[in-house]
Amino acid sequence: ASTAVRRDRFSGGPARDFLSSMGADDRIFQADLAVDRAHVVMLAEQGIVEEDDAASILRALDDVEASGFGALPDGEDVHEAIETAVIERVGPDGGKMHTARSRNDEVATCIRYRLREDVLDAVEQVVAFREVLADAAEAEAETVMPGFTHLQPAQPTTVGHYLLSYERALARDTARLLDAYERVNQSPLGGAAFAGTPFDIDRQRTAELLGFDGVVENATDAGSARDFLFETTSALAGLSLTLSGLAEDLVIFANKGLVELSDDYSSTSSIMPQKKNPDTLELVRSVAGDAAAGLQGLLTTLKGLPRAYNRDLQNATPHAWGAVDAVSEAVEVAAGAVATAEWPAETLEAEAEKGFSCATGVADVLAMHGVPFRTAHEVVADAGEAGGDLDAVAAACEDVLGKPLGEVADVEAVAAALDPASNVAMRDSRGGPAPSAVEQTLGVVASDLAA
Ligand code: ARG
Repeated sequence: ASTAVRRDRFSGGPARDFLSSMGADDRIFQADLAVDRAHVVMLAEQGIVEEDDAASILRALDDVEASGFGALPDGEDVHEAIETAVIERVGPDGGKMHTARSRNDEVATCIRYRLREDVLDAVEQVVAFREVLADAAEAEAETVMPGFTHLQPAQPTTVGHYLLSYERALARDTARLLDAYERVNQSPLGGAAFAGTPFDIDRQRTAELLGFDGVVENATDAGSARDFLFETTSALAGLSLTLSGLAEDLVIFANKGLVELSDDYSSTSSIMPQKKNPDTLELVRSVAGDAAAGLQGLLTTLKGLPRAYNRDLQNATPHAWGAVDAVSEAVEVAAGAVATAEWPAETLEAEAEKGFSCATGVADVLAMHGVPFRTAHEVVADAGEAGGDLDAVAAACEDVLGKPLGEVADVEAVAAALDPASNVAMRDSRGGPAPSAVEQTLGVVASDLAA
C-alpha cells in the first residue's frame, strides 16, 4: 500500500502520459525480465535476498512473462510495471527485487541486452545479402555492362564486378556493426542510481548471467552512457548509405532497361496501366533518411546532458530502435530485389559500347606500345570525334603521330580494345573487372564470408 501511495504522488497528474515510456517499452519487456532474473539470482547467491523470496520472485516473473506485456499493470515504465506485477503476486517481499539497483542501471542494461540482439540480427541480414551479391556476381562474372562515372558512359565493366563493389562496402558495414557490438555488450547493471550500493553485489556475475562480455566499470558512467546507442546508429546510418547508393543505381539501371526487376519488387500506377515502377528500391534509398534522422536525433538529445541519469535519456532510445528497424527492413528488401533481378546480357553488351566507352582501353593499348599515355589520350580523343571506330583511330594516329597505326601498335590489339568484352578482359589488375580478376575477388569474398 505504501508503494501505491508513493506512485500516486509522483507519477500521477496531467503529465502522467508524457512521463511514461510504456509506449516504447514493449521492446524491452523480455530484456527486463532477463535482467530481473539475473539480478535476483545474484542477490540470492550473495545472501542479500533469502532464497525463498528469490524463488517466489522468479516464479512471479515467469507468470508475468506468461501474461505478456499487455497484461502489465499501469506504470511509468516497464520496470515499474513489472515490479508492481511481482509485488501483486508475491506480496511486499516482491519489492526485494529492486534491492541494490536503480531503474537507471536497469534500463541501460535492458537497452544493451535488446540492442545486442538487434545488432546481431542486422549483421546476419547483411551477411545474407552479401551472399546474394557474391552468388549473383559469380553468375554474372562475364556479363559485360556499361560502367558510369558522373552518370555518363565511362568504361565497360561486368555485372559481377559491379555487384562485388557493393559486397565489399557491405563487408565494412558489417565490421562497423560488429565493432559497435563490442561496446554495446557491456553490463551497466549494479551501477545503481549512479553511485553504487552498500550491498555486496557481484556485477561480474550478473554480466555473465546476461551474457555480457564485461561490466561498465564506473557506476556513474554505467547509467549515463549512451554512446553505444549513437555508435550503433551511426554504423546503421553508414549501412543505409551503402544501400541507398545501390538502390539509386538499380533505379537508374531499371529506367534504362539495364536490369529487369522482379514484379515482386516493383509497383504499378493506379492510373497509368503500362507502369512498372521500382518503388521498393526508392523506399530503400529513402531509409538513409530514417537512419540519419535517428543519428541526428540521438546526438542532439544527448548533447550537453549533465551527469548522471536525466530523463532525456528515455527519449534517446527510440531513435535507435527506429534506425534499427528501418535499416533492417531495407537490407532484406534490397537483398530480395538483387536476388530476383535479371540482367539482360545482350542489351547490356550493346549499351557497353555506346558513348565510345572503349576509348580508355584503346589509349591503354597505345600506351602499352610505348606511346606516352597523354599522347595516346589525345589520339583517342581525336578518334572519338571522328566516330571512334578502328578507321578513326588509324586516322587520328596518322594525324597526331605522323605514322600509320600499324607502325605504332598491334592493330589487332587496338581492334580488340574496341570490343567491350575484350576491353573488359584486358583489365585484369587486382580488383579489376576482367573475369579472372573478379574470380580472385570472389575468393577473398568467400573467405571473408566463411570467417
Ligand atoms: N523509463 C526510463 C528510461 O527509459 C527509466 C526510468 C529511470 N527514471 C528515473 N526517473 N530515474 O530511461
